[in-house]
Amino acid sequence: MHALLYAALVATIAARARAWLLPLQLKTTHTTACRAATPSPPERECKTALVTGASRGLGLAVATLLVQQDYHVILTARSEADGLKAASDLSAHCQGTGEITFRQLDVSSPDSIKHFATQCLPTLPSGSLTAVFNNAGVCLPGADIATLQYSLGVNFYGPLRVMEACLPFMDEEGVVVNVSSGDGELLWLNSDIAEALRQAQTVQDVRAAADDILQRAALDPGAELAFGATPAYSVSKALLNAAVRCRHGIPYAPDPAEGALNAGRASSRGGGSTAQRPAVIAVCPGDVRTLMASEEEAQREGVLSALEAAAHVVGLATWRERTAGGLFYRYGAVIPW
Ligand SMILES: NC(=O)c1ccc[n+]([C@@H]2O[C@H](COP(=O)([O-])OP(=O)(O)OC[C@H]3O[C@@H](n4cnc5c(N)ncnc54)[C@H](OP(=O)(O)O)[C@@H]3O)[C@@H](O)[C@H]2O)c1
Repeated sequence: MHALLYAALVATIAARARAWLLPLQLKTTHTTACRAATPSPPERECKTALVTGASRGLGLAVATLLVQQDYHVILTARSEADGLKAASDLSAHCQGTGEITFRQLDVSSPDSIKHFATQCLPTLPSGSLTAVFNNAGVCLPGADIATLQYSLGVNFYGPLRVMEACLPFMDEEGVVVNVSSGDGELLWLNSDIAEALRQAQTVQDVRAAADDILQRAALDPGAELAFGATPAYSVSKALLNAAVRCRHGIPYAPDPAEGALNAGRASSRGGGSTAQRPAVIAVCPGDVRTLMASEEEAQREGVLSALEAAAHVVGLATWRERTAGGLFYRYGAVIPW
């Protein structure tokens, strides 16, 4: 019953967003802060959400749905020109709904995150953040040391730093959504690396595992880290997933709901931490038709549009009572690490 209701809600959100976005490409202006065409009613509850890597693809689609749901969106991108264009395009279509503020943020740069944290977070429009979408990501072929360092910088260390900067500014019911990937499931990893991540109990342990992996790749450039064409990507997302689990103190278990139960933190919906807030989760958006997907992948059956995938991702943050912290989700359901 829950699954049917969930599927219907997601389909409705994505369809409404598609209709609403039809003229999106028509207008561009350049402003740093954009206000919806119709001012917000004064009695409306103001919620603020942060989205990283929102210049295009899934991040822009997530920002779109949030604006449509009356959020004040802090839309961030590493390129100021691309981010401003995305924000102003979106702003031009915000009839009577949320607001958008653009901020430059390169998640691979600790200085950029520090600057964002000191300049933007203390002046949030609603005083706190309700949702953070750690969406920015890169998927590069290979696993040479430079590719590995860069991939971990954007996909693992970056989201961790953004999360640490944002958590003190989050409201009690807040949710941090880390956009991960099924490519980061442990079954794709070299068995030693997978085992180290299973054993990790704290975020510090996961950071140590990341340092070990980088050291191993530097010493032995031929070392196999993961199966498939994008091993650095798989490793970076697996580290992110492990950090999410450890952040909520959930021990590894083949069945993630069982791991949560063992930790004595189960929710009534089969695992995960509902007690510890803000909830920090990982989500695989499924296969999505964006620049990240190859042409062949984009043609595959079952590939989602960015808006369809964003409806699943946003749903986890906005239907908070369904979402338990410390778990990995796809299409609203918990999936294995
Ligand atoms: N597409 C899929 O099938 C798929 C499947 C599973 C998971 N995902 C995940 O979904 C997320 C979004 O990917 P997407 O499909 O929308 O791909 P995309 O179209 O390539 O978008 C990636 C976004 O991340 C931004 N970005 C990259 N490095 C950044 C940095 N250092 N700082 C800030 N922003 C940065 C990019 O900005 P620039 O324009 O500046 O590069 C771009 O806006 C990623 O985390 C990805 O791993 C995607």
